[in-house]
Amino acid sequence: MYTALYRAERPEVFSEVIGQDHIVRILKNQIQTGTVSHAYLFCGTRGTGKTTTARILAKAVNCLDEGEDSRKPCGHCANCMAIKEGTFMDVIEIDAASNNGVDNIRELRESVKYPPAVGRKKVYIIDEVHMLSTGAFNALLKTLEEPPENVIFILATTDPQKLPQTILSRCMRLDFKRVPEKVLIDHMGRICAEKGIEITERALRLLAANADGSVRDGLSILDQCLSAGDRKLDRDMILEFLGTVSEEFFIHLTDKVSLHDVAGALVLLDEALQEGKDVKQLMKDWMTHYRSLLITKYIKNAEDMLNMSTENIEKLREQSNQISLDEINSGIVTLSRTIQDARYSSQPRILLELAIVTIASGLTEAAPLGKNVRQVQQASVKPQSSSLSAASMPIAGEKMPKAAANVQAAQPENGGAAGDNRGTDEIGQQAPAVRAPQIPDYQLDEIWERIFEEGEDMKGSFNLIRTGAVLAEINDTQFKVIAQNAFTKQYVESNQQHICRLMEKITGKQLKLVCRTEEQDEETPSRNQEAESLAAEVRSKLGIDVKIQ
Ligand SMILES: Nc1ncnc2c1ncn2[C@@H]1O[C@H](COP(=O)(O)OP(=O)(O)OP(=O)(O)O)[C@@H](O)[C@H]1O
Ligand SMILES: [Mg+2]
Ligand SMILES: [Zn+2]
Repeated sequence: MYTALYRAERPEVFSEVIGQDHIVRILKNQIQTGTVSHAYLFCGTRGTGKTTTARILAKAVNCLDEGEDSRKPCGHCANCMAIKEGTFMDVIEIDAASNNGVDNIRELRESVKYPPAVGRKKVYIIDEVHMLSTGAFNALLKTLEEPPENVIFILATTDPQKLPQTILSRCMRLDFKRVPEKVLIDHMGRICAEKGIEITERALRLLAANADGSVRDGLSILDQCLSAGDRKLDRDMILEFLGTVSEEFFIHLTDKVSLHDVAGALVLLDEALQEGKDVKQLMKDWMTHYRSLLITKYIKNAEDMLNMSTENIEKLREQSNQISLDEINSGIVTLSRTIQDARYSSQPRILLELAIVTIASGLTEAAPLGKNVRQVQQASVKPQSSSLSAASMPIAGEKMPKAAANVQAAQPENGGAAGDNRGTDEIGQQAPAVRAPQIPDYQLDEIWERIFEEGEDMKGSFNLIRTGAVLAEINDTQFKVIAQNAFTKQYVESNQQHICRLMEKITGKQLKLVCRTEEQDEETPSRNQEAESLAAEVRSKLGIDVKIQ
């Protein structure tokens, strides 16, 4: 029988646990000094090692290894093996989700009275402890207060805030952290190497980004990517898989706002954020969802354009049939603005909530389709500048790299035929006439982030640049960076060579760096001029009146 990767790769000893050094250090020290507590509370995001560490601790206190305590658990003595197999009588795992009643805990209290049968300590691991009923908590409290000698309780939960204070105050609390991407990359890279699977660095990075700090999630995604039997994995293959997991959420969210169910949408958002999703990434992915709706609404064979399963495309198509083009338009415009505003904001969540209210209540100032063609284009179509094909941009966390290129490639040459801006049945017929000259801001942000990822080992001033400046524009010859103030600008300029070199690594082009402060930038008319000339082009070619705001 096939064992899932995340089970096969469960750490057996402390040294195999990744990303929780702070906890491992404490526990090892307690074992060495004989000061193991009688009750622990392991808190933290799913898949970060709570159950795993609980079992390792159970082994350590029962390990038969004769050597130094620092070597415990050894992982291969009879007790360690029995605990690993789940056959050790003195380690009792209880899933509180399905044993949450008073009776269950009473039973536990009875069994606690008996001394260990074979080991030194009886260890009770109560998983999902927040699921216990109030009565069960009260029953447990008594035992936690006066635990018999030789008994250890390890309570584990993802929701410590749901536990009564009385329980919290009786346990030693250890918080499991989300595992950093870098650590995940190394871990998964090593597992792949051991299995003889070739995986590209970019693929690993994407996997780690989507694991979202959870080792189990990372391994599950990897497992599913491998299930097709490939021995080689690249970023596109992982993208293809990823595109199919999260779509469901955005379909729900879009449904809610479309039905003007603001409360429902906010609750959904809250759930996603509680799971640890990144707010800014959510904004971007939701906008991508609207773009996918736009594409499925107008293109028959969208499968090739969107890296998605047929089932998901069907779901998208169903949704796009139900919502109007104006709604899609409003979603894209509102979200693109929200993404832009969130760049400098320390409260992106509020902005996204506001966006939900705006879209759901139809308050977008977006004019009806037609007047908005340029905005929609800017927001929804990815760059087509000659120097930066979508494929040449390695953007972490991005889900559909090929789609945008295809949108344009698949469209007929512009014959100037798209005269009627509302009635055309294929948005594709309008699109080619209006070039998308600017790379959308969210993509600029990702390029900017990549620069710092690549230049990670660079000196400290780099961090100042990362937070104090944004990438505002890229064209065929140069890229523009806007610094918050003159001080940061100075730093950008003194690191010019580095930045240009990293930019070249990412885009494959030698580009000149132009840096300005926010103030200077506001004075420059260049962006306006560009917009004006574009508007003129739209006016003359399409007969659409475009207002520059
Ligand atoms: N810190 C870690 N180091 C190495 N592997 C880990 C770590 N955390 C999780 N894993 C992997 O994920 C699997 C599940 O981990 P575990 O059951 O310990 O997570 P958990 O924190 O208890 O999650 P949940 O909250 O869902 O119960 C492990 O078998 C292992 O493969
Ligand atoms: Mg667990
Ligand atoms: Zn042992």
